[in-house]
This record gives sequence, C-alpha cells and structure tokens, in this order.
Amino acid sequence: MEVINTISQIRKTIKEQEKKGKSIGFVPTMGALHQGHISLINRAREENDLVVCSIFVNPTQFDNPEDLKKYPRTLETDCTLLEAAGCDYVFAPTAEEMYPTLPKLSIDFGNLEHVMEGKFRNGHFSGVGTVVAKLFHIVNPDRAYFGLKDLQQVAVLRRLVNDLSFDLDLIPCPIVREKDGLAMSSRNRRLSDDARKIAPQVHIALQKAKELLIQGKSSTEVKTIIEEHLHSFPELKAEYFEISDFDNLEPIPAMNNEGQTAICTAIYLDGVRLIDNIVF
Ligand code: PAF
Repeated sequence: MEVINTISQIRKTIKEQEKKGKSIGFVPTMGALHQGHISLINRAREENDLVVCSIFVNPTQFDNPEDLKKYPRTLETDCTLLEAAGCDYVFAPTAEEMYPTLPKLSIDFGNLEHVMEGKFRNGHFSGVGTVVAKLFHIVNPDRAYFGLKDLQQVAVLRRLVNDLSFDLDLIPCPIVREKDGLAMSSRNRRLSDDARKIAPQVHIALQKAKELLIQGKSSTEVKTIIEEHLHSFPELKAEYFEISDFDNLEPIPAMNNEGQTAICTAIYLDGVRLIDNIVF
C-alpha cells in the first residue's frame, strides 16, 4: 500500500494504472477509521482492480470550529487497518494541498439544504459537495462507496453526480452497527464509558418509531411518543427526529410504501453528536 500526499502524485499514479486498464474503487473518508469504513473498502476491493481511500478532515464542512478541532486524527492506525483490508493507495493531503486558497464556490442542494442536517449545519453540504467533487476530479474513480449512516449525504452526493454528470457509479452501503445496535462512527470514541452505555438508545428509539408507524400511528403521534421516551434519558438531547420520504427527505404524515420511509435523527450525548437512521 502506498500513501500519497500530493494531488499531482496521486493523479500520475492513477493515470498510469488506468492506462493498464485497471478499474478504480474509491472510498472517501475523514479518517479515524472503524469497521464501517472497512466494510466500504471490502466492497470496493470485491468490485474493482484497485482501491483508493482518501483521508482528509475537510475544514469546509464543519460549521463548528470546536468540532473540527476535536475530530480524531489517527493516520497511522488508519493506514494499518487499510493495509490489512487490502487497500492499494491512501490519498492523505494536507489542508494547504487541497485548498491553496479557500474555495469561493458554494453549492446549493435545494430542498436538501433545508431539512435535517442541512437545517442544523450551516454550509455543511456545500462543503461536502465541494470536497467530494474535487476528490472525484483528482481520483477519477469508476465507483465510489459511501455509508448509508449519512443518508442525507448520500442523497446530496447522488444529486452532485447526476447534476454534474460525473462518470462514475455511486454505491451506497449498509450501516454497520456494534452488537448493541449503536451505528459505528468515528465520533463514538469520544463517548465516556457511561455515555457509551446509553448510546444504543438512539437505535432503540428509531426501531420503536418504526414499529409504531407500522402499527398505523401518524408521524406526529410517533414523534410525541418518542420525545417522551427520550425524556427518560436526560443525557440524550435530540436535535431532530424526522420521519421522511426516502427519496427527497421531506417530512411525511405517515409511513410510505415499502422501502420509501426514512426515520432520521441527530442526538447529542456527552457533547457528541450522534446521527442514525432506519429505512423501511
Ligand atoms: O462522510 C465523510 O467522511 C465525509 O463527509 C466525506 C464524504 C469524506 C467528505 O469529506
């Protein structure tokens, strides 16, 4: 496995491989890797000749400087995990390499900006869209892999790929969970031991909401019941708990047809913002 830090070097390396007819699978990350990321690498490994993983904590998608500062940076351990998983190239640029000057461009994703993550994280998706577009131009992958834990990010990136005609397949991959149901996330390592015991309640609340919707309750009724349920865990502070259409992520009054309902939440616990969702 080769670790490359400059745009010119990764471009040169990939062009050489493409000339040999190799297909490229790409897994963009911000590092602090866990088994969720490794499942993306495994999938990319199965479907492509070569796997490239980028590790870049992208400053332009953080609206909270404290969150950016606290984001775990664990390049050495990440590289050990990636090498064991059979990754071929790690692209790990500095912020100066990616942004010699801060980008003036911003991307408006329409209604996706105004719900859930978009509503609470100002400029977040513009930052994600810009960095992913840059990475796609640099790596020129055949396929790019993203985890469905960030459901709204997948929706935004699908729009980016379609609207800007990127010549690649965007492959959404299932959420990987701990045994107790907590969705794997780089942020989980910031939870105290006590908070970690409470964290599975996020997934439990989603499951409970799903059951209630299946029983025929309206979204409003379900949200009231879940709000009350969450009150029994004062450590959990829900930022949003939304029942939405899977395609456009707009709120819906009751359950949709099969596969078209998404329940999404962001909950603060111990100063850590956990997000999770269920699609059914
Ligand atoms: O999901 C992430 O880790 C990031 O948002 C991404 C897609 C790597 C862009 O910085």
